Amino acid sequence: MKRDSFGSRFGALVAMAGSAVGLGNLWRFPYLVGENGGAAFIIIYVILCFFICLPIFMSEFIVGRRSQKNAYSAFRDLSGGSAWRWVGLFTIIVPLIVLSYYSVIGGWSIDYLLKSLTFSFTGGESQSAINTMFTDFVTSTGGPLLAHTAFLLVTTLIVIIGIKDGIEKFSKVMMPLLFFIVIGIAIYSMTLPGAKAGLDYLFNPDFSKINGKTIAAALGQAFFSLSLGFGTIMTYASYVDKKENTLFQSVATASSDLVFALVAGTAIMPAVFAFGISPQSGPGLVFETLPYVFGQMPAGGFIAILFFVALLVAAITSSISMLEVAVAYLVEEKKFSRIGAGALLFAICWVVGAVCTLSFGPLSHIKIDGGNIFDFFDNLSSNVLMTLGSLLTVLFVGWRLKKTDVYDEFTNGGTLSTNAKIFGVLWFLIRYICPLAILIIFISGLF
Ligand code: PHE
Repeated sequence: MKRDSFGSRFGALVAMAGSAVGLGNLWRFPYLVGENGGAAFIIIYVILCFFICLPIFMSEFIVGRRSQKNAYSAFRDLSGGSAWRWVGLFTIIVPLIVLSYYSVIGGWSIDYLLKSLTFSFTGGESQSAINTMFTDFVTSTGGPLLAHTAFLLVTTLIVIIGIKDGIEKFSKVMMPLLFFIVIGIAIYSMTLPGAKAGLDYLFNPDFSKINGKTIAAALGQAFFSLSLGFGTIMTYASYVDKKENTLFQSVATASSDLVFALVAGTAIMPAVFAFGISPQSGPGLVFETLPYVFGQMPAGGFIAILFFVALLVAAITSSISMLEVAVAYLVEEKKFSRIGAGALLFAICWVVGAVCTLSFGPLSHIKIDGGNIFDFFDNLSSNVLMTLGSLLTVLFVGWRLKKTDVYDEFTNGGTLSTNAKIFGVLWFLIRYICPLAILIIFISGLF
């Protein structure tokens, strides 16, 4: 049977951008920027994105497209059947862990979309009422479990339908919608009186805040945001046509992810500051601060609906990319049907996700390293596993693959002249700079 693939350049691009653009852009980036020195942080982030993350992105792209296989088989076949295959398996398991807890938040987004559709955030509710609404919801059992189930089910259904008809079609419709909504909210948000304080918070450079920890935070955020080290880019790239240009696809995805993060910041922070509140990070920002802000602003009920649609869409286009990694593996290596693979993985992620969901309520007494089970999975995967996955991938491309093969894949057999010109720089970055930078930044972040 012919292997499924993306049907067009635009389709491949929006699917990759869909994987990259997610909760990371909407609730972590704006806050991290504000906390860590505004424009000074953005400059560091951009440098890391383009000099460290982009070569890693291209490495994943090259492995995926060269092999046209799932991550496990890609590592195995390109290394002539060596133990590198276990790195492949590692990059298949990690996204499943992430998907399990991502689905919890995806579920919350569904619930908050329903809340906004019933105009729960229009009456100028007090901040404490909004906080109580959030705490009551996440600490309960039935609601969040149901929402997690719904989110995971939608993710699984889209993936089961396939690459061209499922993932690509969904992304083609939803990604432009997502962009328009967030740009629209950004424009509205900047017109609110007092918005300037939010822009200052985001964009005033403060270099005194930059140290080893902030740089490590920037790198961690860039990895998470670009979906690196998880086998996702590799798997998506395996469905990209051999005629496409690795350099173009990679730069376009990384740039849209960055632009989206900046626009998201411009949508959120001016509104938050216009109402004189100081922003929180993560779930607190999206489910506590913002609903309060919506309740205060003119037409806030409508903006709330748009915002939660955007949040949900951003989460789904990312979650489908996480699931596809393991589906591809089960289908190609273990001869599952897509439905069978989807059903099995749904069951596994549902159980792990359910434990994460309950770790806010009935299981909140279980603490690992000071946080609940959800925090543990989040920290472990985004701070450790992802860094390890990225490091191993660049080492694989830089030190295990043949230089001529990497060149061949990057330049489409020598036919792309710009790619041929910059290959020397890319090769140097992949072989030396990326592994060293990852190690140094990772270690300095520990202290
Ligand atoms: N990049 C996504 C985000 O910013 C998260 C993600 C991680 C997606 C890993 C796929 C794989 O939210």
